[in-house]
Amino acid sequence: MEYYVDIADIGAVRAVNEAFAIDGFTTNPNILTRTDRPLSELFSEYRDYIRQTGQTIFVQVTAGDAEGMVDQAKRLHAFFGDNLVVKLPAIREGYKACKRCKALGFRVCVTVVHSTMQALMAAKAGADYAAPYISHIDNIGADGVHCVDEIVKAFDRAGAACKVLGASFRTVEQVDKLAIVGCHAVTITPETFDMLIAHPSTDVSMRGFNKAWREKYGDKQVTDFLPTEG
Ligand code: G3P
Repeated sequence: MEYYVDIADIGAVRAVNEAFAIDGFTTNPNILTRTDRPLSELFSEYRDYIRQTGQTIFVQVTAGDAEGMVDQAKRLHAFFGDNLVVKLPAIREGYKACKRCKALGFRVCVTVVHSTMQALMAAKAGADYAAPYISHIDNIGADGVHCVDEIVKAFDRAGAACKVLGASFRTVEQVDKLAIVGCHAVTITPETFDMLIAHPSTDVSMRGFNKAWREKYGDKQVTDFLPTEG
């Protein structure tokens, strides 16, 4: 599964990248309002990061019509290059822009997906990713995980190359279940990355290791006991 960090703060992306194996980071218009940094400065830092790491950045267009979306996609692609995935909304103008962006050779994610059909239409339009919003789907009385399960199966049956990028999580359980149903990618907050690997039993075991070691060997480290060669 591909893992992305869902955040505007590039320092936080770098910190997650130091600890975990990730594929890049995702932004959206909401996320880009949650920073006090000038966006032009941030965008330069985003570009430095993707150039250094070879990872992917997702940036969403803000235009309302297909023409404006394609124009923004061209300009975003000119700035970020092929490591960019352009996010287009799952509305009529977004699908229209998707076809045109694919003809231009850009990678595309159809986002704010809330149904299987929206995802299937994204795949049909050549999108590289379709991004269902899990918690938003749950909040409208449906089942986000079940929706992803259906989309993954429908893509498989259709032989679609489009990947499902799960977004909008409230719990680790949602991420866990998406992995089980074969979701191809998720985008999650830095805090969620830490929660994915947190386990109280691991902490108990670690306390046990540390206590036993300290009692017998004090402050020495395992490498202090390596014999000196020759
Ligand atoms: O990637 C989508 C995500 O940012 C949506 O977040 O908080 O609306 O569930 P939220």
